[in-house]
Amino acid sequence: MPVKLLVTGGAGFMGSAFVRKMSEQQTDANASASYDVTVIDKLTYAGNKSNLSGTNHKFVKADISNKFVVEKLVKNSDIVVNYAAETHVDRSIKSGETFVKSNVLGTFMLLEAARKFSKKLIQISTDEVYGSVDNGRFRETDSLLPNSPYAASKASADLLVRSFIKTYDLDAKIVRSCNVFGHHQYPEKFIPRSITNIIEGRKLQIYGDGKNIREWVHVDDHASAINFIINNDFNGGNVVNIGTGNEKKNIEIAKLVLENFGLGLDMIEFVKDRPGHDFRYAMDWNLLRRKGWRPSTNFNEALSATIEWYRENKKWWKPLLKYS
Ligand SMILES: NC(=O)c1ccc[n+]([C@@H]2O[C@H](COP(=O)([O-])OP(=O)(O)OC[C@H]3O[C@@H](n4cnc5c(N)ncnc54)[C@H](O)[C@@H]3O)[C@@H](O)[C@H]2O)c1
Repeated sequence: MPVKLLVTGGAGFMGSAFVRKMSEQQTDANASASYDVTVIDKLTYAGNKSNLSGTNHKFVKADISNKFVVEKLVKNSDIVVNYAAETHVDRSIKSGETFVKSNVLGTFMLLEAARKFSKKLIQISTDEVYGSVDNGRFRETDSLLPNSPYAASKASADLLVRSFIKTYDLDAKIVRSCNVFGHHQYPEKFIPRSITNIIEGRKLQIYGDGKNIREWVHVDDHASAINFIINNDFNGGNVVNIGTGNEKKNIEIAKLVLENFGLGLDMIEFVKDRPGHDFRYAMDWNLLRRKGWRPSTNFNEALSATIEWYRENKKWWKPLLKYS
């Protein structure tokens, strides 16, 4: 019998990569399990049904904070993978209301339904819940010290998941990842915004002095890590970090993008820093590594492939620039 997956936010950047990965397994005779995928997505400015083209899934357009719809879908699934969220830090600084509704209340509704029908839940979370770290790496046991309204809404959701595990013995995992990049990422985010600005003949903008450090994982590797986490036993560990060791200063990424276009540093424009801008995120992902998962992409090659994708898919991103 195929495993019934309910993927929330499946029309977004990372959710659609995961749906693509899992639907490939429907036709792969060597896959460990086969999956029947249902997507629930509200189709906000960041959701795009075309991201799911070529995948085999059922689609439901709805909000994860809609109790009635959520109960019905969770009841008919085996595992809920919660990607749905408002995700852009700058938008959360302008107005955090939708972040609390979707990221906190939405997660709560999924948890209530998962508890009611005894289903498994995977919460897709982020390194940003840990705050900023100058030295060393965030461990799964570290305290949550979020600095933006976005990060605080994700940390709140993580705490709700933890409370359901502790109080109701819910079968759930919180998966916190470093920054994700790749094809189909909304052009408001740093890497696609840098690429699309250059294609449009504009300058590549960098907050502050560009020395902030992020660790990067490719979106297809993130999807493979989630598949791995679903199919492996973590001996009761409720939190799993995803990392790669690919740490880069923002200015280094800008230089790589410009090199790819044969352009010089004069195309960089330093702009006023984001308030509360975290200096560095870095993950300790030994737990996942010890279990045997590894990323399969090389950062520089994957960045070049991403640039190529944006060059070839202007029809996908150009209409989105008006919302960015
Ligand atoms: N992008 C990153 O670097 C990164 C890193 C770590 C974790 N995450 C987390 O991964 C998840 C996916 O991120 P992404 O970059 O793919 O985001 P995205 O903004 O590209 O997609 C989010 C999707 O969720 C949908 N959505 C939003 N609110 C909803 C609601 N209330 N009900 C139903 N659907 C809703 C949107 O329509 C969209 O399709 C998020 O939970 C995010 O916090 C992202």
